[in-house]
Amino acid sequence: MSGRRRIAIVGAGIGAQHLDALLLLQDRWQVRVICDKDETRARALAARAPGAEVAGSLEAVLARDDVDLVDICLPPALHVPAVRAALQSGKDVVCEKPLAGSIAEVDGIAALAEKTGRVVCPVYQYRFGNGLRKLWRLIEAGVPGRPLVATVETHWDRGPAYYRVPWRGRKETELGGALVSHAIHAHDLLTEVLGPVRRVQAAIATRVNCIETEDCAAACLEMADGTLVTLSVTLGSAEEITRLRFCFAHLTVESALHPYRPASDPWRFVPRDPETAAEVKTLLQDFHPGPEGFEGLFTELAVSLETGEEPPVTLADARRSIELATALYYAAATREAVELPLRPSHPAYGGWLRWLPA
Ligand SMILES: NC(=O)c1ccc[n+]([C@@H]2O[C@H](COP(=O)([O-])OP(=O)(O)OC[C@H]3O[C@@H](n4cnc5c(N)ncnc54)[C@H](O)[C@@H]3O)[C@@H](O)[C@H]2O)c1
Repeated sequence: MSGRRRIAIVGAGIGAQHLDALLLLQDRWQVRVICDKDETRARALAARAPGAEVAGSLEAVLARDDVDLVDICLPPALHVPAVRAALQSGKDVVCEKPLAGSIAEVDGIAALAEKTGRVVCPVYQYRFGNGLRKLWRLIEAGVPGRPLVATVETHWDRGPAYYRVPWRGRKETELGGALVSHAIHAHDLLTEVLGPVRRVQAAIATRVNCIETEDCAAACLEMADGTLVTLSVTLGSAEEITRLRFCFAHLTVESALHPYRPASDPWRFVPRDPETAAEVKTLLQDFHPGPEGFEGLFTELAVSLETGEEPPVTLADARRSIELATALYYAAATREAVELPLRPSHPAYGGWLRWLPA
């Protein structure tokens, strides 16, 4: 199929930011429907999207034959049934994080996508940033050398006003806390750069808010290539930052500190020797920035749907992210080191909820 893709945004919270990006890309995307069970919210968003209609339920969206792709921005526990229903209706899918509450569910979605021949693009929009693109350019040229250690800090600030939304802070509806709702993006960036995780040790705690789910976490990871990593997560930081710091053999790399756009510029590339400094300078001197965040994701998704190539974020990417979350929760619950990959025989393959603290 060529021409503009017709998209329905389902869920008018973060869906508003998806819309902002889609409105910048009107040569590729046409927003046909804004759906929310809260009709006032849906109407307010639809007023910003030329020609968009309003729907009050996912079923009403799926019954339409003028929608090619359903963009699921619903609360976490609704993702899996919504993705499955959309695939069964013959629609392509974009789905907010976390895609699912278990590796088993991600595998089930992958099987259904294969059977229906439709595309699922999980949302990890933090990947689309020009600082990170510079690091990729250096990695592809072999400049940084062997990764040694890395740290990832997700230090955000969430208080009672945030948790007034009923689905947040509850295991059954949020499916977890800061690990799957907030730090999931930075942890995805880590594994995107460093590859598979071999072993995980972790601790989680609820120390900031009066909620069921964790709002602090610390973890120690050993990557498959031997790189040692520490993760630090809190929702009680006065100053919000997300920071990834990689020490490679020839280059130390530090992300931007912006909490919600750590992959954007400015990144710091600090060479350990003059040769590396010269290579970094040469490789980055003609760098051209590309679209970032949701705009980057929807730009690349439109191209991949046109060409039939893989979407910019794949189900395999979401599986890796959900597998890491599973391992972190299971390690925290058992206070034991967890070895990856997690096979279907693993006790937490079917989900981590029962392993969360009561
Ligand atoms: N990628 C990101 O950076 C990012 C940022 C924020 C939220 N999120 C994710 O997006 C999802 C939504 O979060 P949010 O903050 O926008 O939540 P929200 O509560 O603000 O918005 C969700 C909307 O879904 C609607 N809704 C709920 N059940 C519905 C149903 N059955 N049918 C139709 N509409 C329904 C609600 O009325 C609400 O307007 C979550 O999974 C969250 O983790 C992602």
